[in-house]
Amino acid sequence: MQRKVLRRVADSITITDNRTGESLEIPFENGGISAAQWGKLLPGVWFYDPGLVSTAACESSITYLDGDEGILRYRGYPIEQLAEQSTYLEVAYLLLNGDLPTPAEYDVWQHEVTHHTFIHENVRKRFLEGFHYDAHPMGMLVSAVAALSTFYLDAKDIFDIESRNKQIIRLIAKMPTLAAAAHRFSVGMPFVYPDNSLKFTSNFLSMMWKTAEPRFDANPALARALDVLFILHADHEQNCSTTAMRVVGSSHADPYSATAAAAAALYGPRHGGANEAVIRMLTDIGSLDNVEPFIASVKEGSGGRLQGFGHRVYKSYDPRAQIIKKTADDVFEITGKNPLLDIALKLEEIALSDEYFTSRKLYPNVDFYSGLIYQAMGFPLEMFPVLFAIPRTAGWLAHWQEMLDQDSKIARPRQLYIGDDARDYVPIGAR
Ligand code: CMC
Repeated sequence: MQRKVLRRVADSITITDNRTGESLEIPFENGGISAAQWGKLLPGVWFYDPGLVSTAACESSITYLDGDEGILRYRGYPIEQLAEQSTYLEVAYLLLNGDLPTPAEYDVWQHEVTHHTFIHENVRKRFLEGFHYDAHPMGMLVSAVAALSTFYLDAKDIFDIESRNKQIIRLIAKMPTLAAAAHRFSVGMPFVYPDNSLKFTSNFLSMMWKTAEPRFDANPALARALDVLFILHADHEQNCSTTAMRVVGSSHADPYSATAAAAAALYGPRHGGANEAVIRMLTDIGSLDNVEPFIASVKEGSGGRLQGFGHRVYKSYDPRAQIIKKTADDVFEITGKNPLLDIALKLEEIALSDEYFTSRKLYPNVDFYSGLIYQAMGFPLEMFPVLFAIPRTAGWLAHWQEMLDQDSKIARPRQLYIGDDARDYVPIGAR
């Protein structure tokens, strides 16, 4: 069959179905091509893309990421500048609203978040205190966030902007309270109420560590270091948990249920659980002498993965890891060096000069050093994914809101069926 001759234009691709000889020209838009257009030529033929490695599931104007160049920007602002000059609350505002707040807008925003930090007494007494004494705080957080949807019935009004904004403020404000409450319960300490005179991270540190003193004043440098870590973790475009947020949100579930789903996705060791896995790995390695044999075992496949290394998108370096290394120095100056740091540094040095890792473009990611900082600040390992979930809530909600504003379709991918053909049911006695 003769092929259709197509006009030659830049910025388009032509596909030909060799079964029919039919061709279709599809323009590139924003660096991608429309699968819906493609489907016009190939109805009933699906893109096979496990892990959505080559699929853009949405258009987004929140976060820009260039994995080859190691670039990360929130709403156009380089992560390096935000980490240096901004605060987590300001970044949360930026992610959600698209622009940095004016001083007046920031005052209102900070006031609103600060005055929504309290949780209903029943969330603490009935839910959190109902967990088994050794419950993982991340499991408690996921459940408590989901439970919040039953306390705020107006949360279902997701297209009522006033209600939507209220849930966004509640979620950002209450995450640290829930997180600290989960920790206090797991160590048998009494719950500490939020202190509205404190800033976001100082308030969280007060809820974590306060004992008998009337007011807990966190070391300002440590509160700032945590704020920087929160900025670095606030968003990372279409990662696993954000995708979970968008997928669940696309069914028009309330934001608490969607955030609980996102937090559950973050829990896994391939995602937000990686910083916990890094410390366990470094502890298992135990001494500098064991670093080389450990690397050898990773390479031959018996030692598992080098935790805190590699990234689906970053293939030259993770800009967050570079900032975090500097933050680690600031924190260790106050807390003393984490004894695992030397093992981490040696591991990094060997891996970065080893062909196995360089040929696969495996570099330290944000989690390689964040765990060392959290540990030096006194956080137990189980709290690490929780510390990731607190700031990522801003990113999840920004994506959720964007998805709703785009009037996005319900997420419903296709599959390539590879199972049995039709067969007749065999009664149990005849099998
Ligand atoms: N250690 C050793 N080998 C690795 C590692 C690692 N950490 N990561 C990837 N590889 C190898 C993998 O075995 C494969 O080799 P081969 O081609 O010979 O089969 C190759 O590199 C490609 O791996 P992949 O699994 O196809 O890569 P991916 O893009 O699907 O996985 C990743 C990305 C982050 C899940 C993975 O690198 C990993 O498991 N890293 C360790 C866990 C970790 O640090 N996660 C935190 C990610 S950053 C925080 C966040 O955003 O959540």
